[in-house]
Amino acid sequence: MQPKLNIVPFVSVDHMMKLVLAVGVETFLTELAGYIEADFRRWELFDKTPRVASHSHDGVIELMPTSDGKLYGFKYVNGHPKNMREGLQTVTAFGVLADVGNGYPMLLTEMTILTALRTAAMSAVAAKYLAPEGARTMAIIGNGAQSEFQAIAFKALLGIDRLRLYDIDSSASRKCAKNLAGMGFDIAVCATSQEAVEGAEIITTVTADKLSATILTDNMVGPGVHINAVGGDCPGKTELHRDILLRSDIFVEFPPQTRIEGEIQQLPADYPVNELWQVISGGIEGRKSAGQITLFDSVGFAIEDFSALRYVRDKLRDTGLYEELDLLADPDEPRDLFGMLLRAKAAAVA
Ligand SMILES: NC(=O)c1ccc[n+]([C@@H]2O[C@H](COP(=O)([O-])OP(=O)(O)OC[C@H]3O[C@@H](n4cnc5c(N)ncnc54)[C@H](O)[C@@H]3O)[C@@H](O)[C@H]2O)c1
Repeated sequence: MQPKLNIVPFVSVDHMMKLVLAVGVETFLTELAGYIEADFRRWELFDKTPRVASHSHDGVIELMPTSDGKLYGFKYVNGHPKNMREGLQTVTAFGVLADVGNGYPMLLTEMTILTALRTAAMSAVAAKYLAPEGARTMAIIGNGAQSEFQAIAFKALLGIDRLRLYDIDSSASRKCAKNLAGMGFDIAVCATSQEAVEGAEIITTVTADKLSATILTDNMVGPGVHINAVGGDCPGKTELHRDILLRSDIFVEFPPQTRIEGEIQQLPADYPVNELWQVISGGIEGRKSAGQITLFDSVGFAIEDFSALRYVRDKLRDTGLYEELDLLADPDEPRDLFGMLLRAKAAAVA
C-alpha cells in the first residue's frame, strides 16, 4: 500500500463517503463496533491520557492521542455549538495513524463523518451490555448531525426499530425523520422531550449547547431505562439533572477524562463509576436487573478513534479508496535534507 516512502494514504471526505456507501452504513457500524470491542478488551495495553483541550469562549479544540505500542493514533476535533447557526458543523475532525517503530504516519483521514460513525458505534456497544433485553424503542433528543448515525447503529447492533425524536428546532427532527425514511424504522416526531421519552427503553441525548442544560429531568426517567448521554462532553456542558445520576448505575470510558467532561462532573470526584472496558472484557457485570437505570456517560475517548483509524486503514487495502499524499520528505540520503532542497531549486531553474 505504501510503495513510495514520501507517500501517505489520505482519505478525503469524498473517499470516506464512497467507502461508507460501498461497505454499507449498517455493516460499517457493525464492523467498526467489533474493532472498538477488540481494542477495549486490550485496554490495559494502551497509553491513556485525558484529551488535551483548548477552551475558548465559543467552543473547544482537542487533541486525542493514544498508542498500543505498535500503532499510534491521534484525532484533532473541535466542538463549537454556535457553528450550526452560522452554517458550519458543530464538530469537525481529522486524524492520523502512525507506525510506532519508525514514527512514520501511515494514514491521514477526514474524521468528521468517521467521528459520527465511531460515536454511534461506541454508544451501541455500550447499550449491548447495558440496555434492557429486547429493547425496541429509543428516544433521540437532539436531532442534529450525530442523530441518524446513532439510530442506525442501534438498529444494526440492538434491533431498535422504533424512534421517538425531539429537538428544540422541529426542522432538525423533520430532517432526521426524512433521512431515516425507508430504513425500517417506525418514527414519531414529538412536540416535547417528555413526549419523546414515553415508552422508550433507551433514551439518547445528543444535543449541543455550550452551557449546562437540563435535557432530562428526574421525573422523565423510569425504572429499567438505559440512558445514552452523548452531548455533555466538556467542562460546564451537561445534559442530565444531577438527581438522575444518583439513581443510575454509571458507566464511563476513561474516568480521569469523564470526571472533567462528562455528566459526572456534577458529582464528587470519588463518586463510584464503572469502567466500560471491564464490562466488555467480562470483569464486571453490565445490566444486573430489569428495574436498574443504566447510564452511559459518553464523552468520546481516544481509543475509539484509534479503532476507527485501524478499521479504515484495513478497509483501504481492498477498496483503494484513498489518494496518495506527498507528505514526508524523502531525500536519497537521509541526512541530505538540505541537498534535496538545492536539487529542487536546480530543477526549478532548469
Ligand atoms: N460523546 C461523544 O463521543 C461525542 C461525539 C461527537 C459529538 N458529541 C456531542 O454531541 C452533541 C451533538 O453533536 P452534533 O454534531 O449532532 O451537533 P448539532 O449542532 O448538529 O446538533 C445538535 C442539535 O441539538 C439541538 N438542541 C440543542 N439544545 C437542545 C435542547 N435543549 N433540547 C433538544 N434539542 C436541542 C439543536 O437544535 C441541534 O439540532 C454535541 O454537543 C457534540 O459535542 C459527543
